[in-house]
Order: sequence, then structure tokens, then C-alpha cells
Amino acid sequence: MMRVSKQKIPGKSATKVAGWQPESWQMRPAAQQPLYADSDELNRARRELSGLPPLVTSWEILQLKQLIAEAQQGQRFLLQGGDCAESFADCSSERISNRLKVILQMSLVLVHGLQRPVIRLGRFAGQYAKPRSTKMESRNGIELPSYRGDLVNAPEFTPTARRPDPNRMLRGHARSALTMNFVRALVDGGFADLHHPEYWDLRWVDASAHAAEYRRIVTDIAEAVQFMETLIGEPIASFSRVDFYTSHEALLLHYEQALTRQVPRQPGWFNLSTHFPWIGMRTADPNGAHVEYCRGIRNPIGIKIGPTMPIARLLHILEILNPDDEAGRIVLIHRMGASKITEALPPVLEAVRATGRQVLWCCDPMHGNTETLANGIKTRRFANIVGELEQSVDLHAAAGTHLGGVHLELTGEDVTECMGGARDLSEADLSRAYRSNVDPRLNYEQSIELALRIVQKLGRSKK
Ligand code: PEP
Ligand code: CO
Repeated sequence: MMRVSKQKIPGKSATKVAGWQPESWQMRPAAQQPLYADSDELNRARRELSGLPPLVTSWEILQLKQLIAEAQQGQRFLLQGGDCAESFADCSSERISNRLKVILQMSLVLVHGLQRPVIRLGRFAGQYAKPRSTKMESRNGIELPSYRGDLVNAPEFTPTARRPDPNRMLRGHARSALTMNFVRALVDGGFADLHHPEYWDLRWVDASAHAAEYRRIVTDIAEAVQFMETLIGEPIASFSRVDFYTSHEALLLHYEQALTRQVPRQPGWFNLSTHFPWIGMRTADPNGAHVEYCRGIRNPIGIKIGPTMPIARLLHILEILNPDDEAGRIVLIHRMGASKITEALPPVLEAVRATGRQVLWCCDPMHGNTETLANGIKTRRFANIVGELEQSVDLHAAAGTHLGGVHLELTGEDVTECMGGARDLSEADLSRAYRSNVDPRLNYEQSIELALRIVQKLGRSKK
């Protein structure tokens, strides 16, 4: 992660924000928050968390903002991916390195095919809180609080497991720190060395339907690296590592607040729990607590846009979050669904384009395409995921905007959660290795296939 080579600090705006404090969100309606029964216990946990070291630094955040500003100009592509929700139990070396490997492999495919550098942004090291459609869940006449992610409670359907426990914020912070520590060590220790993409191989690469195509790309890149180094006459240091950034949904605001800090020699406040927090579809309310919280931090911010988001509301949120139109500040992540995107996306693109604002457009082809099968299993069809992505490329081209990134739910594991793909996973296959507690993720093979499909659609060097 995150060596800062060329420190160009984007605009100095958003450094002092009128009427804002890390806790000012508490004066606003806060959707999707758990009800903690014991406020003393909550205060103790928050106080302890506020005194613990942060997970990222302000200069890494500003560096990412600069890279996003370049992506807004079409010079980079953003690949954001990871689990729908991390779980405390999955904080293991194998899971973390597999997830890193699949993102690295996808980014190789994208760099090679798009001929543009890729910003690698994991959904990890803090993606522990989830929005839910209902506050309570009923089973056999028993009603308990919904599972809101490991940062809040546990998934088992018992009163003890489902009790929102503020001390879980401390465990979440510790797991995030363990994850970050391992990722940083891997990245700095040569794991992400372009001279050795074989380090990124997963056990199941060779069994993949795309193995040959992937190997061809790796060989191409190895030859290009060798050619450049021969030309220059020495090893090129920047080939020995790649940057990784982290992101999560800024949902549980007590957690985000406790990790919101000021730093020496930098004005303003930073959320130092992650480089890139995003506002989920269910909390994107200009009068709500989440927008109020994000208004005052200097991190780049993602905003999810669903098909029911009124355009006036989106424009209002943009005005609140980025009054000075600072470059690199805003990433708009649309998640309309394959069947709705042709109708829902063009008016949004047109309205934002008309404001002249600098934004980075990303497509999340996952969350508008979730379906529940008759047996109650949640899945997504690969064809719908690809379909939404391909349509979004065309709709951007027609609107005079450009698709600058993707937001995906994926895992390096060999799971069977999404249907379709090269192996054409069927409904019957889903029960074989379905592991997600929340949304279904692309498995390794489907992820690589998707990267290849993105390249096919976006083509070389087109913005
Ligand atoms: C998510 O990204 O996991 C999520 C809940 O997305 P959205 O807010 O777009 O529904
Ligand atoms: Co999800």
C-alpha cells in the first residue's frame, strides 16, 4: 500500500467546513443505526476507539484523491472490489491474500487491455457494517434485531448474538488493523512485484476456462517490463510494487466518528479508518446524518445512486459534499440493474453533466441485479452483471460522459454464489459452495472473466 511518490495535493478547499464537527451528524436523522441498549457501554467503547491509532494516513488519502482526479480526466481506471461484508471469522491470511491476488490479476487484465493505469481499491479493512431492509427479523414467531454486520452484532439467530454490542467496534478496528498490516506487508514485501505475477496465482487458476488468456496477458506484460528495463538499462523500481487503497461503506457513524481525526500540518478533518468511505443507497439523504458526517471530512467520497434517487436530491448532495467542485472528491457509483439502466441512467448523466461538475462515474453492476430464488437463496446472474456494465458504457458514450471505474462484490475463493459465467453455474450449483452471509459474490473465475469482458467492451485506450 500506498507509498506516496509524487505528492500533488488537490485543491485546498473543504479544509474548514462551516458548522461541522465530527459529532454534528448526531443532530440529524440517522438511518440504519443499531439501537444500543446501554449508553454507558457505548460511550466507553467510543472513548477507547477514539484513543487508538488510525488505520491510514492523511497523505495516503490525499494521494488517492489526486489519482481519482486523474481518473476523472480519463487517465486512470478505478477497480473497486471485495466482499459485500467482511466477517471477523474471515480475517485469515489465506482469505486476505486470495482477495488481493484476484484484484491484482483483474487489474493486470485491465491495465493491459485499457492501456491505462488502474487504481486498486479494496472493499476491506472495515467493510463490517451492513444496511438492512428491516430493523427486525422474524423466524417461527420469534422476533430479533436484524443482523447488521459483524461491527454491530452476530448472524446467528439468538438474542445474545443479535444484541447490538458497541464493543464490536473495537474488535472491528482490531481486525481492520490486522488486515491492513498484512496487506501492507505483502505489498511492500514484493508480493505485488510485476516481475513476479506468478506470486498472485491461486490454486484454481489452471482449472479456469480463462487460464490461457490470462497467461498470455501475463507473458505480454513480462515482456513489456523486460523491454522497458533493457531500454533504460536498469530495473525500474516502480514495477516492484503497486498501490492498494481501502474503502468501506461509512454506515455505522459512531465508528466513523471515533476514527475522524486532525493531523499535524494539515488543515481540516480526515476519516482515518479508510481511504475512501462511501455513502450507501439507503443513506444518501441530503438532510440525513451520513451526508452531514461526510460533508466535513477531506477524504474522497463515493455516493451510490439507485434507480429511485430523485435527480434534485443527487444535485443537492453534490452541492453539500463538494461546494467548491474540488477535483478527486466525488465518485458517483450507479447501481440501477440491467433491466432499469437504459431508463434510469441517462437523465442522471445529463443532469450532472449540465452542472459542469468534476465527478468520476463508476458502475456497480451487482446491487441492482440481486434476486432471491424460490428456495430463498440470494443470487445474481453473470449475464445481468455483464449486461448492466456493457449498457452503462454505451449510455455514457451517448451522454458525452465516460465510465471510469467499476465497483464489484467478489472473492478470491472458489465459491458458487452467482449463476452463469464460463462454467455456467446453475441454481443446483449454488448450494455447493455458498458462503456469503449477505450478498452473493463473483468467484475467482467469474471475476477474471468480467475483467476480460470490460476490456472487450471498453477497448484499448478509449475513455
Ligand atoms: C453494498 O455495496 O454492499 C450495498 C449495500 O450497496 P447499496 O447501498 O448500493 O445497496
Ligand atoms: Co452488497
